[in-house]
Parts: sequence; structure tokens; C-alpha cells
Amino acid sequence: MSVAKILVLHGPNLNLLGVREPGVYGTTTLDGINQALTELAAELSLELDIVQSNSEGALVDAIQGALGTCQGILINPAAYTHTSVAIRDAISATALPAVEVHLSNVHAREPFRSHSFIAPVAVGQICGFGPDSYLLGLRALAKRLGK
Ligand code: DQA
Repeated sequence: MSVAKILVLHGPNLNLLGVREPGVYGTTTLDGINQALTELAAELSLELDIVQSNSEGALVDAIQGALGTCQGILINPAAYTHTSVAIRDAISATALPAVEVHLSNVHAREPFRSHSFIAPVAVGQICGFGPDSYLLGLRALAKRLGK
């Protein structure tokens, strides 16, 4: 079976998972999430390119870099979800299928978290399942890619 490559993007402050507001985001570290994603990717015949950045421009650069190298994007834009037209436009520009994920249920928190600039250009959004949001998102993307 051919191997598709997925860009996995983690936005700002997600490098602090494990110590950051564990009551909201749980105790799994970013390495733990990446490990689980890598194991699932092998099962689904997917290859992952994993990037975390606290910088909006670096995330835009990574999305642009996926053009011609990756077949899909799994993204937790973190706080940029609620602010970034630049990330939304970059996803739109690549025309790659993107799945937006969040650890927490953004719709059950402060009202400003309910709005996503990314959701309208994503295939769909999965939130509220902790680290499983990423795994569900990867499965959804694999299915979308016919994997
Ligand atoms: C988050 C939700 C965002 O509102 C927040 O800014 C984050 C993490 C999540 O995964 O639940 O940094 O994307």
C-alpha cells in the first residue's frame, strides 16, 4: 500500500502540555501525543511530519511547505484558532484536506473559544477528547485519503 504523508501541526503553548493547566488539558505531554500518533500512523500506512511552533509565521511556513510534500494536515492551531486569518489562508492556499483538533471542548469554555477561523477551511473539527482528539482526527484524515 502506498504511504501518504501528513503534516501534524501543534500551535503555541502546546509544548507545555503535561504541566500547562492539567485540569483543562490533562497530563499527557506533547511527546506522548506524538508517540501515540506515530504508532497509529504506522497502522494506517501514513508517514508523519510533526512540527510545533509558538510562532504564527513558522506555522504558516510549515503549511506552505506541505504543498507538494504532504497529502493532508492535522492541526491543533491552539490560540491561533481564534485569531489567525494567516493560518486559515495558508490552509486554503494549499487546498490540502485539513482536520482541526483540540484537546478541550472549545465550545464549552469561554465564548471567544467557540469561534474558529480555521473550521471553515477544514474538512472538520474534533474537540473535547483530550489526546484522543488527535487520534480520531488522524483516523478521519486517513479515511478521507482513502486509507
Ligand atoms: C486548544 C484550545 C485553545 O482555545 C487554546 O488556546 C489552546 C489549546 C486545545 O487543544 O484545547 O491553546 O487548542
